[in-house]
Amino acid sequence: MHILRFLEVADAELVADYQRRNRHFHRQWSPIPPPDYFTPQFHRRMLQQTVERREREEEFRFGIFSDQPDPLLIGRINLVAIERGAFQNGRLGYSIDAKHRNSGIMTAMLKNVMGFGFGYLRLHRIEANIMPRNEASRRVLQKCGFRHIGYSPKMLLINGQWEDHELYMALAEDLRSDQDDEIAAGLQPFLPLVDR
Ligand SMILES: CC(C)(COP(=O)(O)OP(=O)(O)OC[C@H]1O[C@@H](n2cnc3c(N)ncnc32)[C@H](O)[C@@H]1OP(=O)(O)O)[C@@H](O)C(=O)NCCC(=O)NCCS
Repeated sequence: MHILRFLEVADAELVADYQRRNRHFHRQWSPIPPPDYFTPQFHRRMLQQTVERREREEEFRFGIFSDQPDPLLIGRINLVAIERGAFQNGRLGYSIDAKHRNSGIMTAMLKNVMGFGFGYLRLHRIEANIMPRNEASRRVLQKCGFRHIGYSPKMLLINGQWEDHELYMALAEDLRSDQDDEIAAGLQPFLPLVDR
C-alpha cells in the first residue's frame, strides 16, 4: 500500500534516509548535493521553507510512503515554480527509490499530482524537463499524457555538467479531450487534505 501526501517538517528524518539510500541511483540525474544534504537538519530547513511556500501556493512537495513494516519514504514528486496570472503553470520533478523502479508507482502517483494540479490548483499547464537519455522519465511522461514540445540546450547543472533537456507539457484541455478518467480522478485522494 502506498500513500501520497504533502511532505511535512516532521518528515525530515525520512527524507534524509531516502536521499542517503538513493545517493548513487539519483546522482546522474541530480545537481551535486551540498555537503550536509544527507542530514535531517538540512531537510528540516528545506521542509520549513516548502511549507511556507505551500501556504502561498507557490510549490507543493509530495512524498510517496510505504507503511510496511515501518513508514518509509520511497519516492518524491515536486510541483514547483507555480506561476499564476496569464501563465497558470507549474513545473514537475520526481524520483523514486531504486528498489521500486519500474513498478508503475511513479506513473500512478504522478497522475494523482496532475489531478491535484489541474483539479485543485486549476493550473492550465504542467511542464517537465528531462535529459534526452533519461528513458525511464520520458516513458513516465508519455504514460501520463505529456507531449514533447521543445529542446533547451545546456539548461540545468546536473551532476556537475550543464545538460541539454527536452521539454514536455500537459495542458488541462488535453486531459479533458482525452477523457482521461484516471488523471481526472487524481484529485480525489486530496479532498480530505484540502481545507479550503
Ligand atoms: C524516472 C523515474 C522516477 C521513473 O520511476 P519508475 O517508478 O521506474 O516509473 P514507472 O515504473 O511508473 O515507469 C517506468 C517506465 O520506464 C520504462 N523504462 C525504464 N527504464 C527504461 C529504459 N532504460 N529504456 C526504456 N524504457 C525504460 C519502464 O519499462 C516503464 O515503462 P512501461 O510501464 O511501459 O514498461 C525513476 O527512474 C527515477 O527515480 N530515476 C532517477 C531520478 C530521475 O531520473 N528523475 C526524473 C528527472 S526528470
